[in-house]
Amino acid sequence: MSTATLTPPSSGGRTAAVQEMARLQRELFELERAFISSATTLVPRVGEPDLKYLVCQHVWESAGHARFLRERGRELTGFGKTDSVRPAIWRVFAEAITPSDPDTLLAGFYRVLKPHVLASYRHYLEATHHLADWPSRKLVEEFIGDEERHAEEMEPHLNESVDTHAWCEHLSSAIATLHADGTADLTWQHEAAPYTHPATCNRGPYPLCSSVFSKNPDETPIVRDWLEDPTTDARVIRVMIYIWLMMELDAVDYLATVFVETLEAPFDLHHDLARHLWDESRHSQFGYRQLPKLGFDLMTIEHSLDLYNILVQMPPAERYALMTMEFEAGSFATKATIMDRIRELNDFEADTLLAFDRNDEQNHVRYGHQWLPEIMKLCGHEESVEDFVKSAQTNFAKMAEIHGNKTPHSLSPEQRLTGAKILAAVTRGSGSA
Ligand SMILES: [Fe+2]
Ligand SMILES: [Fe+2]
Repeated sequence: MSTATLTPPSSGGRTAAVQEMARLQRELFELERAFISSATTLVPRVGEPDLKYLVCQHVWESAGHARFLRERGRELTGFGKTDSVRPAIWRVFAEAITPSDPDTLLAGFYRVLKPHVLASYRHYLEATHHLADWPSRKLVEEFIGDEERHAEEMEPHLNESVDTHAWCEHLSSAIATLHADGTADLTWQHEAAPYTHPATCNRGPYPLCSSVFSKNPDETPIVRDWLEDPTTDARVIRVMIYIWLMMELDAVDYLATVFVETLEAPFDLHHDLARHLWDESRHSQFGYRQLPKLGFDLMTIEHSLDLYNILVQMPPAERYALMTMEFEAGSFATKATIMDRIRELNDFEADTLLAFDRNDEQNHVRYGHQWLPEIMKLCGHEESVEDFVKSAQTNFAKMAEIHGNKTPHSLSPEQRLTGAKILAAVTRGSGSA
């Protein structure tokens, strides 16, 4: 072939190989972002706390993948400057969240969507040049390891049925629309019946109640006055703070609802919300893991639903405002008193868990200051942050009248753990409980 027959490369042509890899990275970034905004809707709908914790962990790891993809992608010509997910990708994930049955939802996410993400990462490794694109390659190798672990971690929670198989086939057809082999005549279920949050959250086999806080030691496990009373046995306070932490599962359930209602948020906002969500799921685990070690049967501890039930009736910006500016900002003084009492026990693990909880909560209040104005803007609230928080507080009181205190105790006072029984248990345990 003579040189005369060659077409001179256009300026785009010179970086065509880079642009092709940037296009794949861009698609992976958008897939991870769409996973974060959609998989979070699974959290209040699945019942087992372990499953909620796992979804929160996977969402947080996806946020990490997306962040590094964007960082690397921005070094490549053609990645694009915006954070947005193209409608063709989002509609696949919008479809994935339409079922209400938890087994069907999980099957769709973990038998179809996550394997598609994993296959896309593997394709990236095969398609790229090992030396030219070495920085991307190292990231992608690591993400493949994460995705393989996510599949293993979720496997024990997946239950197959005829229904889940049919749903997975439907979702596979939805995924195929992203590429040339897709069929044009797919019936999108979310177009007829878009997703809405459940009015209450699923807690699987666990007993329920409206609130675990009261002043009555024969009614609830956490007795408000006892927490700050210097004569309360520190071992009682330790059990109560573990129950308090376990009940941060309500924060897990209602914070998870904010993502899908703020789809246009900058990625950094969702990144920090994903971190916040994972932190709350860890705090809840502090109680969930420690209480059985102290001899308490989790089936006797009722789960409080009031905060979710009330907040889910409020706009997402109010939900986030109350969480960060009211509940979290307002918890430090009581928790400080509790931490001082726990130190009397020389329980290094309890001190450590509470120290990390405190550190995380300080970050959450910082996130609130940074992101509440942004969420307000996204949701069309134009007043000052101060006025908005005040009106959210007023609205919360109104909503609590209507939607609060509606969950009766699942267990009789004889069956359920109460403050009085915690006191009796630690006293019986004579120092080691
Ligand atoms: Fe927390
Ligand atoms: Fe928090």
